[in-house]
Amino acid sequence: MRRRLSKSNGERPRVTPASWLAERVELGPLVAFAAKKTVPIHRHTWIYLLGGAAMFLFALQVATGALLMLYYHPTEAGAFQSVERIMTEVPFGWLVRSMHVWGADLFVGIVVLHFLTTLLSAAYRKPREMTWMAGVLLLFTALAFGFSGYLLPWNERSYFATLVGTQIPGTIPVVGETIVHLLRGGDQVTGDTITRFFAAHVMFLPIALGAALLVHLALIQGQGMSLPLGMTERDARDHQPFFTEFGLTDAGVWLVLFGLVVTLAVFLPASLGTRADPLQPAPEGIKPEWYFLFMFQMLKLIPAKVLGLEGNMLGVMFFGLVALFLFTLPLLDRAAARERRSRLLTTLLLALIAAAAALQVWALMTPGVEHAETETAAEATRTARSAVSLALLWAVILFLAVYLQKLRRENARVRRLQAERP
Ligand code: HEM
Repeated sequence: MRRRLSKSNGERPRVTPASWLAERVELGPLVAFAAKKTVPIHRHTWIYLLGGAAMFLFALQVATGALLMLYYHPTEAGAFQSVERIMTEVPFGWLVRSMHVWGADLFVGIVVLHFLTTLLSAAYRKPREMTWMAGVLLLFTALAFGFSGYLLPWNERSYFATLVGTQIPGTIPVVGETIVHLLRGGDQVTGDTITRFFAAHVMFLPIALGAALLVHLALIQGQGMSLPLGMTERDARDHQPFFTEFGLTDAGVWLVLFGLVVTLAVFLPASLGTRADPLQPAPEGIKPEWYFLFMFQMLKLIPAKVLGLEGNMLGVMFFGLVALFLFTLPLLDRAAARERRSRLLTTLLLALIAAAAALQVWALMTPGVEHAETETAAEATRTARSAVSLALLWAVILFLAVYLQKLRRENARVRRLQAERP
């Protein structure tokens, strides 16, 4: 047996990485702050997994995006060709780009789901008003990531969708034209727009999202997780500490999400289509990304003129009002602060969600411009090697996920034993 070294017998104490760090950095308050967070366990506990899932997907987007940046050219002459090269020549370029495209869809999807669950459980009520407001900023930033990224391949669909999308704020009185100019870097969608969108996509938006996320997480860490409106402490079976228990379930979900993104990327690789030609007329059925479809559908339904006012302008102003309403919701919903559900606000919110869902389904049913699959990516999906690699990946993921759950149960057992000790 190895002999323990101690100060008392004059020998040097054993240095572990943790003790080495503790002697140099004051970690105590940080560890105590991190250990404070607990998660209530009840029949809707799954909703607390969504924020972490969004965070994991964002980290994955940063990683795949950083790899894409090694080959992508943000210019009119180079954008399409560089993406084509990533898809056909760069080793695993098709996989990384397809993971970035699918990761973006899942990221926005999970953020929207997290938004809806926090909305319906009224998690914005006192003292979480600012957590919610930072969340609304995160939602808008996530959508802006999608909008700016869509143009970057400079294909027919992305060019015309951006042309239409950047035109919409032009109807706002007084400042409309300035906003369009600011977005496009000129009057038209050109190479300057690509450079501008690229800068937003890889610098301004990550900084904005990082800052909002820091505020969001710091507040959550301090406040802990809320119970959905209508639930009391008696409905919670347990309160798991985040570190060493609930965090392990989170990690399991992240592993499964990673597997899902890789699987989707292999079986349904991202398409590229044809290079944008600004001189050609816009093809039929141009659509934005799926998460803007309900707004796009609504703008299509509003007549060109309503009571002498421009229809598009009214649509944009309506969206602006809804955004302001959502941002200030914790201040408007006084009943939730008193642990009650306001009938008027609940009806209004449900009506808005139902209208958005109906418009979304309608837009999804309208045929759009389809892209041909890029050859090499399609070939790669057909290889038996991909199937074997995927099977191996899933075996590792399932093994790790089961192991993490075992570890969580063991940590919970130790915690309960310690609690029972007199
Ligand atoms: C990039 C996007 C986002 C990330 C990474 C993120 C991250 C997180 C994390 C890790 C949590 C703690 C665990 C959980 O409840 O899931 C959380 C909680 C929360 N988030 Fe987000 N979030 C994002 C967007 C949003 C949005 C769009 C909203 C709503 C507008 C929002 C509102 C909240 C609220 C109110 C809580 C506290 C929940 C409670 O105490 O029950 N978040 N978020």
